[in-house]
Amino acid sequence: AAPVRVALLGGGTVGAAVARALLQHPDRYAARLGAPVELLGVAVRDTTRVREGIPADLLTDDPHALAQDADVIVELMGGLEPAGELIEAALRRGAQVVSANKQLLTRRGVELQALAQEHGAGLHHEAAVMAAVPVLAVVRESLAGDEITRIRGIVNGSTNYVLDLVAREGVPFADAVRQAGELGYLEADPTEDLEGLDAAAKIALLARTAWDVPAPPDEVDVTGISGLTDADFAAAAEQGGVLKLVASAERGADGAVRCAVRPEVLPAEDPLARTRGGTNLVELDTVLAGPVTLVGAGAGGDETASAVLGDLVRAGLAVARR
Ligand code: NDP
Ligand code: HSE
Repeated sequence: AAPVRVALLGGGTVGAAVARALLQHPDRYAARLGAPVELLGVAVRDTTRVREGIPADLLTDDPHALAQDADVIVELMGGLEPAGELIEAALRRGAQVVSANKQLLTRRGVELQALAQEHGAGLHHEAAVMAAVPVLAVVRESLAGDEITRIRGIVNGSTNYVLDLVAREGVPFADAVRQAGELGYLEADPTEDLEGLDAAAKIALLARTAWDVPAPPDEVDVTGISGLTDADFAAAAEQGGVLKLVASAERGADGAVRCAVRPEVLPAEDPLARTRGGTNLVELDTVLAGPVTLVGAGAGGDETASAVLGDLVRAGLAVARR
């Protein structure tokens, strides 16, 4: 079979992990796609930096040229532009697109999905919400015969890691933030995490997937963790509670969907309160199945690559079927 040609746009925390998996396990992906995967290149800003496991001759600083002949574009640059224009151009020529870019997808997801449909293209974004946890597939496909009434969870790994370190080990807030950054959990702009915007984007995407509503991120009622003080942690501990950044979405009897992200003091036995480090957990309340809980790694290079590569297999199969 003809190779499936893949352009990787971004070779940072997640992109490098995806590149390494493709280069180290070509047989795995060839078997799953029924065709070999050809990695055309990896677009980065700085082509002189050595990236473990990625041959230097695959690096380019021209994502537009790299993307134009690919069957599958894997966008892992983040940010609204040039990611947005690259994805749009790929969809307009009927290519398959994989992206983990929750900020772009919450703002332009509806328009980009419509574009994909119009041009017989594909847009896959499982990794954009809760990284390794396959929550979008469960909400969209596995629970398609049920009715979700409420979504509630810990959907941001870096702030959970920070809150956990401060609460359990008494690490100063600023040091905990630095450690989360070193582990690759934080976004390039850490205020996305600390001000709750990353969690807001994810809960908006979950609400949109569950209820097919527009769910714009700026309509999420958001409070981040940056305003928390040592006194808040002490007060939570005194009550026997745990401070967590909780994201929730609910559909009221009137059909209106309300999404919120805010720090809450939870009872210690609440499953959300027991979520450690960079782990994410989401509870989906449903009419038929009752509560369904999903838990796993919500951030990190290899962990997020797992979801991206799952989408890449779906995208590659769509190319191979043509
Ligand atoms: P990084 O900042 O580590 O990587 C971004 C990559 O894109 C870098 O290689 C950078 O180049 C490259 N890049 C950025 N802008 C350009 C440009 N204009 N032209 C060419 N290359 C460019 O981000 P992550 O890997 O952490 O995240 C990637 C995406 O995945 C984001 O959308 C993020 O929200 C999402 N995500 C991340 C998770 C995580 O745990 N890290 C989890 C889930 C989703 P250079 O290396 O030279 O700077
Ligand atoms: N910065 C994000 C987080 C990465 O901390 O959850 C995963 O989306």
